[in-house]
Amino acid sequence: MSYPDMQSRSAQLFERGRKVIPGGNTRKSVYFAPYPTYAASVDGCRVTDVDGVERLDFVNNNSATVLGHNHPAIVDAVVAQAKRMMAAGMPTELEIELAEMICERVASVDQVRFANSGTEAVMFAVRAARAYTGRNVIAKVEGAYHGSWDPMYTSMTPLPDTWGEDSAPTTTLSSAGIPQGAIDDILILPANDVKAARELLRANADDLAGVLIDPLVSQMGFLALTNEYLAMIRQVCSDLGAQLIFDEVFSFRLGYHGAQEEFGVQADITAFGKLIGGGLPVGAIGGGKDIMAVFDHTAGGSVPQSGTFSGSCMTMAAGIAALKEMTPQRFEQINALGEYAREGMRSALQEAGLTGVVNGRGSLMSVLLVESPFDNYRELFNQLIAGGAFALGAQLHQYLLNHGIACIPPGVFILSAAMTEADIDELLRVATDAFREIAQSE
Ligand SMILES: Cc1ncc(COP(=O)(O)O)c(C=O)c1O
Repeated sequence: MSYPDMQSRSAQLFERGRKVIPGGNTRKSVYFAPYPTYAASVDGCRVTDVDGVERLDFVNNNSATVLGHNHPAIVDAVVAQAKRMMAAGMPTELEIELAEMICERVASVDQVRFANSGTEAVMFAVRAARAYTGRNVIAKVEGAYHGSWDPMYTSMTPLPDTWGEDSAPTTTLSSAGIPQGAIDDILILPANDVKAARELLRANADDLAGVLIDPLVSQMGFLALTNEYLAMIRQVCSDLGAQLIFDEVFSFRLGYHGAQEEFGVQADITAFGKLIGGGLPVGAIGGGKDIMAVFDHTAGGSVPQSGTFSGSCMTMAAGIAALKEMTPQRFEQINALGEYAREGMRSALQEAGLTGVVNGRGSLMSVLLVESPFDNYRELFNQLIAGGAFALGAQLHQYLLNHGIACIPPGVFILSAAMTEADIDELLRVATDAFREIAQSE
């Protein structure tokens, strides 16, 4: 069966879904035109859609399933937990155990609180920074995604007519329904421009509560923030008494000790998600004892934090099982596989005579068919949207979809520990053919 096929079961489900779900499905991030393939089952590194088509899964639920699908240790833990207790309106030992594991792994984290999503984790981390400092301004990088909480849903995909100066980006709304007041205290930084970002931060010295950073910007083709840029932000935060907030919702999977260790920077407070829930919905906030005291409801903490499902024992059980499996050796293996994939993709592009940029780190890879490397959102936008590389990415995605590979358009590939070199070879073989076809059609 080839995609798209309006007679397919996925196409029919999409039509049926549209009647009761605006857009036909709930997550914009998993939609692609003319209809998304609907999943029926998963196993290891493969996903089978409702039309019976099996594909190598480089989506991995947008990074949450680092071990691949249906890992026996996680399935056993979840089944056993479901039989024992799916939920209780009481704390459990499990949340302490998972918190201990995170504290043991991340040097800057002494204490942890759990939430239900990365969005919530970022929200509470930002709230903690504001409460702790008594200030309001939060800086974030232009083009970076940090979940869908109002103040953070800003300047994600700004357009040239409203994005302002390169060295002083305007804070723009990224969704209707967000009041201007929610983003008044959000300062937008140009990625990797040390001088401009430092000046912007210093100009807000008295009001700066924190700087929110995703060091390997998930939304920008895994653009890495440079060591110099990260070091400057760390220094300015320390100088001004502002909090460095790391968003490791995506990038915690870069290593056993997370992204901070990989990038050599210590945050004051960290937002976690995805991986630490073993595939179930999760978020967490972690930091030093001083800032985490804002959540201490036994000692007059000024930031109440709850949530019916926060610390869900099902999620905690899955998360503990996942972290136990993700040993330093596993990280080494999956990261080596990532390097193998990135090198292979660069050779494949060269072989096909197609220009593209392969970014990423660890088990994360992005392949964008742009003309030259990019250092910030605007350089990426000019090539991807204005320059038409997004359409080439859609072409690549569709070719791969029709040849047994699922990835996130326009070209994000997320590996899982269930993959082997043979799986990557399969990806590279298909990708080379795709690149050849695209090169010929140009
Ligand atoms: C860097 C980053 N922060 C926050 C989030 C939001 O996490 P969630 O989708 O669990 O709300 C995401 C989701 O992809 C993310 O990539």
